[in-house]
Amino acid sequence: MAQQVQGVVAPGKNEPVRVETIVVPDPGPGEAVVKVQACGVCHTDLHYKQGGINDEFPFLLGHEAAGVVESVGAGVTEVAPGDFVILNWRAVCGNCRACLRGRPQYCFDTHNAKQKMTLTDGTELSPALGIGAFAEKTLVAAGQCTKVDPSVSPAVAGLLGCGVMAGIGAAINTGQVGRGDSVAVIGCGGVGDAAIVGARLAGAARIIAVDVDDRKLETAKSMGATHTVNSRSTEAVAAIRELTGGFGADVVIEAVGRPETYQQAFYARDLAGTVVLVGVPTPEMKLELPLLDVFGRGGSLKSSWYGDCLPSRDFPMLVDLHQQGRIDLGAFVTETIGLGDVEKAFARMHEGDVLRSVVVF
Ligand SMILES: NC(=O)c1ccc[n+]([C@@H]2O[C@H](COP(=O)([O-])OP(=O)(O)OC[C@H]3O[C@@H](n4cnc5c(N)ncnc54)[C@H](O)[C@@H]3O)[C@@H](O)[C@H]2O)c1
Ligand SMILES: [Zn+2]
Ligand SMILES: [Zn+2]
Repeated sequence: MAQQVQGVVAPGKNEPVRVETIVVPDPGPGEAVVKVQACGVCHTDLHYKQGGINDEFPFLLGHEAAGVVESVGAGVTEVAPGDFVILNWRAVCGNCRACLRGRPQYCFDTHNAKQKMTLTDGTELSPALGIGAFAEKTLVAAGQCTKVDPSVSPAVAGLLGCGVMAGIGAAINTGQVGRGDSVAVIGCGGVGDAAIVGARLAGAARIIAVDVDDRKLETAKSMGATHTVNSRSTEAVAAIRELTGGFGADVVIEAVGRPETYQQAFYARDLAGTVVLVGVPTPEMKLELPLLDVFGRGGSLKSSWYGDCLPSRDFPMLVDLHQQGRIDLGAFVTETIGLGDVEKAFARMHEGDVLRSVVVF
């Protein structure tokens, strides 16, 4: 029987989000219903609400979540009721051209639930990133459930479902940061700080945090930044070069998603260095660079979707490292809030007051 639960819906462009009763169908073949225990508020949820991703309103927001599988549909073997899981937005298909070439982290045909969750009047909801977990329960494809050590706190585990994985993966997977490298991270919110944690884990010798907010730079230091630059008062490219022997960093990670910060990243890296764009731009943004500089500076310019992660490989590994005390993912949870507080959490994110607000159930 379909169930009715409470969930946070974005009804239209820039309209305040509201808690609504939503209808969650029983899982069909290949699907699972998950009782959500925690779901972080990511900047991408705000992008959805602002119409920055697409116009498929109403959205069921929330996508950085952990919970317990309640029921599974026909043919599901990878998870069973009672399993503690992190929800992922990369349930790989195994059949697309990326998967067939052995690069499933780029899968172009990831799975989501086939059935739709709806409002009580039957209006179909678009779940954010195919998840929709600001809800007591949500319907996903079984492959979106990644089992991890159940002794970890759900509020911490959920963050690996998006922003923290995106940041750590931008450093260790996309940027391929290695021992002794110099790394600069522009934008030290949840994603940028996670990139700092990833760079440190990979053995970077120098980690330069850049932000426009001194509070963010303080937190970045506690996450592992060795140097900080406030780019409101200091020219970021010159400062990063000065901190790297005049040359620029080996890897620069852009975690804001704006042309001007991308340009800083482009010029703040050493010759033959790597730029990783993990911040998400909006449709009207344009980038202009001298082509000769693109050629002459060499190296690689990469985008990082979800930290190029493979959930089945990376989530359990990062939970284990956290449980062993080798990374501190708890530091990303600034506050825990209720389902009715998401709009307030967006405002606090906008003010720069939080790394992550996490809805707990
Ligand atoms: N690529 C992916 O897979 C992926 C996944 C999750 C989130 N994201 C994106 O990553 C970006 C960051 O997300 P977040 O949750 O950390 O957001 P956030 O709002 O918590 O952090 C953004 C940070 O950037 C700083 N900032 C803003 N303007 C700046 C500037 N001009 N120079 C330097 N710093 C500046 C802010 O002070 C803040 O600390 C967003 O665009 C988000 O959509 C990407
Ligand atoms: Zn695929
Ligand atoms: Zn996200």
